Amino acid sequence: MNFVFLGQQGAGKGTFAQHLSEKKGLIQISAGDLLRAEVKAETNLGKKVKEIMNAGELVSDELIAEMIEKRIKEVKEKGFILDGYPRTLKQAELLEGIMQKLNLKIDAAVNFTIGDATTIERLGGRRTCKNCNKVYHIKYLPPKITGKCDACGGELITRDDDKPEAIKKRLEAYKKQTKPLIDYYKEKGLLKEIDAEPKIEEIKPVFDKIIEEIENKKITG
Ligand code: AP5
Repeated sequence: MNFVFLGQQGAGKGTFAQHLSEKKGLIQISAGDLLRAEVKAETNLGKKVKEIMNAGELVSDELIAEMIEKRIKEVKEKGFILDGYPRTLKQAELLEGIMQKLNLKIDAAVNFTIGDATTIERLGGRRTCKNCNKVYHIKYLPPKITGKCDACGGELITRDDDKPEAIKKRLEAYKKQTKPLIDYYKEKGLLKEIDAEPKIEEIKPVFDKIIEEIENKKITG
């Protein structure tokens, strides 16, 4: 199965991509994580995108498409979750081209919905593992040992773009450029909506049921 995860900042795309990846063995392809790895390694791409990301703006469609296509090719046999891609209509069209070329199909676009106040609260408390990118929250999803990743023992850090000014910019970019994708996938009959305001443990059974239905439909045709 191949999924697209949509939703504004802090809605839980990364959190539920990790959950689905652990449950079904699908590969999480996080556009943000791939870009942050380029920044960390100080590659040419990383140098180009660092300031753009820290300011909360979107990186160019073409740069992202190349990076995503490469990753899809590497993992396509296992199935994948596109977390944070596509984010503009142009990216959605480019993705269709990539999928056609590789003879693949998106099974569903899952849209996680929350309000702006929740975004601000969640991003303020988010901590991410420097090593393996696992996501925590100081209040809602704390690690067993403060400041250390449960999975790999890595240091937990605050992202550079989880600062108030960048969060504001990211929300503006979401509303202007990404929100139209909800209608785009609705028209294709691929949209599944999830109210992402409740607690993670309350969302999980609703989410798992949706995935199960998609899986059954795929198996039975
Ligand atoms: P990216 O890394 O993708 O960030 P984002 O889209 O801003 O999304 P977030 O990671 O903030 O939200 P999320 O929904 O994944 O939330 P999470 O699960 O972590 O992108 C960063 C930047 O890269 C962009 O700004 C842009 O510059 C660039 N970029 C990336 N993709 C691009 C593209 N396609 N095109 C152009 N540029 C691109 O959850 C957040 C927190 O809340 C966590 O602490 C979690 O534990 C907690 N939480 C989650 N769910 C719940 C819940 N139900 N209850 C309580 N807490 C919860």
